[in-house]
Amino acid sequence: MDWGMANRMAQLIQSDGHALFLPVDHGYFQGPTTKLEEPRKTIEPLLPYADALFITRGVLRSSVDPDNTRPIVLRVSGGTSMVGKDLANEGITTSMEEAIRLNASAVGISIFVGSDYEKESLLNLSKLVDEGERYGIPVMAVTAVGRELEKRDARYLSLSSRIAAELGARVVKTYWCQDFEKVSGGCPVPVIMAGGPQVDTELEVFEFVYDGMQKGAIGVNLGRNIWQNDFPVAMIKGIRALVHQSATPKEAQEIFNSEKKGIELIPRKSTEDSIDVVLPPSASMEYYIPIRPANRGFFPTGITVIELEADGVQIETRCHNQSADGWIGSSLNQWFKSHPELSRGRNHIVRFTVIKPMKKYHLEIVK
Ligand code: 5RP
Repeated sequence: MDWGMANRMAQLIQSDGHALFLPVDHGYFQGPTTKLEEPRKTIEPLLPYADALFITRGVLRSSVDPDNTRPIVLRVSGGTSMVGKDLANEGITTSMEEAIRLNASAVGISIFVGSDYEKESLLNLSKLVDEGERYGIPVMAVTAVGRELEKRDARYLSLSSRIAAELGARVVKTYWCQDFEKVSGGCPVPVIMAGGPQVDTELEVFEFVYDGMQKGAIGVNLGRNIWQNDFPVAMIKGIRALVHQSATPKEAQEIFNSEKKGIELIPRKSTEDSIDVVLPPSASMEYYIPIRPANRGFFPTGITVIELEADGVQIETRCHNQSADGWIGSSLNQWFKSHPELSRGRNHIVRFTVIKPMKKYHLEIVK
């Protein structure tokens, strides 16, 4: 494998061999899908926990800032819609040149095995693979079923996935199904799981993801089961534990339960030189504060040192955080532990001052 291809694959599939892709491409045939009406709002809080974003060029340009460093899997097939005649009649919508311009780490295309447009979609895949291999860009094939959801069984999905791999896909995205080992076992390239069954509880999502991981999937490309949940960040953290930390469904559920209690800091106000956020009384564990584009200049890539001040009293606390992606994140738990004056449930005005490497900059947490 050439260096460029190997490097892009390494961006997508983490060193543990696993991957969590976040798909937000649904609008390309569904329009403003529930909870994805304003893509930026959906994407921003979840991005720190995703290994890659599966997205169209339009939403990428409009709703993700270019200083994002998460790898992009660019959705390059489409041309059909929910209200059109046949979802399977897709073409290639985005050129390889455009994918390179957008610095995509991979491109994704749907195939529709068994449909009236089987041949066209498979030849589209082959053409895309030819181009991708020329430029070192991996192709992810999506085994789509259109409206025929009943097709999603091991027999059909193993057939589709194998064909995708035979035609040169470097990664295959398919649905979870019973007997998933038949799908992964018959596919000589990494398989990730999409969608999954319509389920009522988070535990059912954790259970099917766990099952697929046990049976050979290397990860997920999970969208609605994450961002249509009332607690999407808690959900993606639970999924992440399954994919990257060998968590059991029960452990993922525990993570979900504790995260949903209110660890998210809600941005209240963002101005040129400050960000106010509301710290919920039950805040615990890790927090993240989104850095708005207007403020990004203050937070260069790399390690930043932060001083913490509570109720006007300076507390010598330092925090290394990654600001490259536009978030400041750290462990509030540690601050709570070492500073009883910051006990949860009491009213505090907490101010974070970035003292290194740039000029002073305030982040206020107001409860
Ligand atoms: C839409 C897609 C999606 O990326 C895929 O279906 C995963 O999303 P979800 O988990 O919401 O089903 O390919 O065409």
